[in-house]
Order: sequence, then C-alpha cells, then structure tokens
Amino acid sequence: MTTSPLPEKLNVLLVGTGGREHALAWRLSQSPHLGKLWVEPSANAGLLQFATACPEEFSLNRKYYLERWLIKEQIGFIIIGPEGPLAEGMVDALALPTRPIFGPTKAAARLEWDKAYAKSIMRQTSIPTAEGRVCTTLSAALTYVTERDEPCVVKATGLCAGKGVTVCRNATEAIAAVQKCMGTRAFGEAGDSVVIEERLEGQEVSILALVDGRTITLLDTCQDYKQVGEGDTGPNTGGMGAFCPTPLLSDSDMQAIARDVFVPAVDGLRRQGVEFRGVLFAGIMLTPAGPKVLEFNCRFGDPETQVLMARFRGDLLKTLWLTATGNLADADFGFDQRPACCVVVCSEGYPGPHPKGRTIQGLQMIDSASDSKAGDHWMFHGATKRDAAGKVATSGGRVVTATCLGSDLEDASGRATALAASVTFRGSFFRRDIGHRVLKSHKSMS
Ligand code: AMP
Ligand code: GLY
Repeated sequence: MTTSPLPEKLNVLLVGTGGREHALAWRLSQSPHLGKLWVEPSANAGLLQFATACPEEFSLNRKYYLERWLIKEQIGFIIIGPEGPLAEGMVDALALPTRPIFGPTKAAARLEWDKAYAKSIMRQTSIPTAEGRVCTTLSAALTYVTERDEPCVVKATGLCAGKGVTVCRNATEAIAAVQKCMGTRAFGEAGDSVVIEERLEGQEVSILALVDGRTITLLDTCQDYKQVGEGDTGPNTGGMGAFCPTPLLSDSDMQAIARDVFVPAVDGLRRQGVEFRGVLFAGIMLTPAGPKVLEFNCRFGDPETQVLMARFRGDLLKTLWLTATGNLADADFGFDQRPACCVVVCSEGYPGPHPKGRTIQGLQMIDSASDSKAGDHWMFHGATKRDAAGKVATSGGRVVTATCLGSDLEDASGRATALAASVTFRGSFFRRDIGHRVLKSHKSMS
C-alpha cells in the first residue's frame, strides 16, 4: 500500500473509451490536482476534446513499451473504466507504490469475470441471491433446464459485454439459451460453463460502492433500464438509460444492503487472501422476499456513471486516489440534492449488429461537457469518432448519453428525453420512458 499523499499535480491515464469514461473525465478535469489527462487513441470524440490521446492502445501485450511510456510521460495515477483490462490483470502488471491504479486486481475482479466464482462467494458468505447451479457440460445443463421446466435465467460465466445472460420463460427458451452458450459457443470460452438460476421478479437497482480494502462507502443508488424497448420489452442491452437516486430504498434499507451484501463480499474475498480496491457494483433485484444480488461488477457502470457524475460534488480525482491508496476514510464528497436522469441514443439494430460512420447532427448545441461546471445538462459521448472531414459520426451501438438534472425525477426524465431528441443521425433511436416504473408506482400511491 502506498501512503503517499496526493501530489499537487498529477498526470493521469484514464483507460476506456466510452460514455462512462467521458463522464469520469469531465469530473476529473475539474480537480485542481489534475495535470495532464491521457486517454487511449480510440477514445470517443467527446473524451478527445479535453484529454490527450496516447500513442498506442493500452494492451498488456505491449507491457514493456507501456511501462517506458508511463515513465516518460510521468503518469502518476491510472484509472481503469472497463472490466476487460481488470480481468486481464492490468492492475497487477502496472501498479507501483509510486503509481497507484484505481481498480481491483485480477483476483478481486474475478467477482465479475467469473459468475460461478461470484456465486460461490455469495453462498459461502450467505449473501442473498437467486438459487442456482453451475453446469460445466452441455448435457448437464440441458438435463437441468428440462427437468426444472420453469422460468429461469441462463448466464455464461465469463465476460460477454452484457450479452451472455438470457432471461427465459420456459424450458424451450432455456434449452435454446444453453445451446447458444455451450453448443454453438456464441460467446466462445466465456460460455463453456453456465450459471442457471431461478428467475426473480421485481425492480432492479444498481448499488455502487467505493472500497479501499477496508472502508466501504456506498454511493447514491441508481436504476438502469436494461431492455432495449419501451415498457421494458426486447433483449437486454448494456443499459438504455438510468436515473439516480431511486426513491425505492430508505437509509435503513441501504444500511441493511451494506451489512448483508457489501461487507460479506469484501470479507469473503479477504478470507481468500484477496483485497478489493476500486468500485464494487452490485446489481440487485428488489424481490417480495427482500433484495437479492443478480451480479457483481468491479467497475463503474455505464450509464450509471453518467448520472452519478452529474450529481457528484467534490474532488473526484482526490476521491479515487484516496480509494486506491487505502485512505477512503479521508475522502470528502457528496451528491447534489437534485435527481439526475440519462437517456442513451443508440444506433439502429443495437444490441444486434448496427451500422457505423453515420454523421451526428445536433451535438454542436452542447458539444462539450467540459464547459459547464455548474451546468444541469450534458451530452456525454459513447461510441463517437471524428470522420475524415472532422465531423462527429457514430462508431458503435450506444452513441451518446443525454444527461440532465431536474427538480424531481419526472422533470429530470422529461428533460433528458428532450435532450436526447435534439441529437439525430440516420437510424437513431432511444427510449422515452426511462424512470417509468418508479414514476408510475409513485403516481398510483399519491
Ligand atoms: P447480470 O449480468 O447477471 O446482471 O444479468 C443481466 C440482466 O439480466 C440483469 O440486469 C437482469 O435484468 C437480468 N437477470 C439476471 N439474473 C436474473 C434473475 N435471476 N432473475 C431475473 N432477471 C435476471
Ligand atoms: N449498466 C450496467 C453495467 O454497466 O454493467
């Protein structure tokens, strides 16, 4: 552990290229401690407006080159956004006492990259979760789902960019999902074993906590709308929009979740000799029998980060540094009282195959998030790139995240939806009902 205090100026490398990283970079850029901010050359057009592209992608295959470059540019802190580099062991490979990294080691990130391992930790530590079984052969999985013949969820155990989970209504759908993972190997090695679990009902919440090895600080709770279609229909995506905070959980509910989920998870890892530092993110279903964990992630969520950063008040760089160096208890941050909502504008076809390279109109209205420290609306780029003519074009499925604060959730959702509508490209679409489940249940109570 490094005990070095936060330097007056710090050059930072932010690994990751999407909407989550744009939101983080924007808040980082407001820290008086930030020297030069570096990102990968494939970063989106929004990130590249106020960060410098490093000469090559960050891949551990080029570790020797990377280390020399980090020294040459005097990079003092690395922040890792996505799960891939964590699962690869980037923290293990590059962290030094004089150059901490925000993010867990490969062993700690296993909670995300191996769903069977996460399930075993949950069992050992009595964390409430869906009842389920790990199957390592196709025949065992097919027998299990056929005999159960009830709604279930089939999950590839490895990383699949949010696509490895199928929520099934009956045995026929479950058999197809198992065949996809283990028969045709649609997810490669990641689907060579599966977790099959009972299908839970309820509203989902995303609870993120900063963890420095010992101290656990829960952030305000978000709700992410995962399904592609309005009214929660169609296949799951990485997230079509989110809001924060949710009115569904009281302070005492949060204390219970800290006690029953986060503390046992961090302690369970520690008992195996693994220290967790970074963001621990529990996807939780609020079932009639109480909150149950659907999954753990070991990083900030996308698009949860966009709404969290819209409300974050404090020095983000300092907060992440204190977390990475084991001193989270010294951090001083809070959240704006106003709720935030975001709506993700996507490319036609997403989450399936989708076109790229379509010019985006309407971005110039709010082209950069960096200019509005005290603002109340932001357009965070996700999958955007400048084309040869310098125009911003689409480069993937989740293109931009329109993010707004509002006087209440209804206001924030309405404003984010209107902002999303101001951005267009051929085939663009977005959900107009982010927040609908909570808004409906609150209206019916009043
Ligand atoms: P995961 O990656 O495990 O969070 O799964 C992705 C999504 O699938 C979750 O956000 C839920 O919407 C859904 N899901 C996962 N597990 C279950 C479950 N046991 N019951 C119902 N839905 C689930
Ligand atoms: N929005 C869910 C995730 O980042 O995994």
